[in-house]
Amino acid sequence: MTLSRTIMNDDLHIQDLAHYGPVIPVIVLEDLAEAVPLAKALVAGGVRVMEITLRTNVALESIRAIAQEVPEAIVGAGTITSEVDAQKACQAGARFMVSPGLTERVAQTCNELAVPLLPGVATASEVMRARELGYTVQKFFPAVACGGLEMLKAWSGPFPDVLFCPTGGIGPDNAKDFLALKNVVCVGGSWLVPQHAIRSRQWDHITLLAREARRLSAPV
Ligand code: 3PG
Repeated sequence: MTLSRTIMNDDLHIQDLAHYGPVIPVIVLEDLAEAVPLAKALVAGGVRVMEITLRTNVALESIRAIAQEVPEAIVGAGTITSEVDAQKACQAGARFMVSPGLTERVAQTCNELAVPLLPGVATASEVMRARELGYTVQKFFPAVACGGLEMLKAWSGPFPDVLFCPTGGIGPDNAKDFLALKNVVCVGGSWLVPQHAIRSRQWDHITLLAREARRLSAPV
């Protein structure tokens, strides 16, 4: 399926993320020193796309460090909730943006920056609005809390042209079920970057989790 609009940066399209996936790790970093080894551990496990959430005060510097020191990584910024977030993340080197919802200001800023945006939706009206703004790949968030598999199946009728990246409540037990849906291109989740493993620098364990996640397949 072809994206209905050009949202790209360095020839990166949001749908390309699925081909590198099918899982996008959602990462929360508390210590800048964790950023590069974590990114290297994910890449070693075959996971090149990674989302660093802007929820801690080292997030932007972490994105910058990964962008500079781990060239195999495709690092993006998550929890984009304002135009300032998008501008700062782009300056730090983020190659894509992920937002929990969608505002016109965030959309416009990402367009101006020519950086791809994966916008969050949780209702049919939000799907329609995001589609009107040109986004045919959308993040379904928080996926399990908002209806999970059944909601995505229901949306496949009225929105056959929209693809989703469900995030929130996805783990090794249900990721395959989501990826088996025809309107799911990839899933997001924190399960392959657990806080305890990051804090204790268990990089081999994260590589193992990444390798397992990489073996899940998406129907793209
Ligand atoms: C988040 O916002 O933290 C993501 O949706 C990840 O959710 P998860 O921890 O349930 O994977």
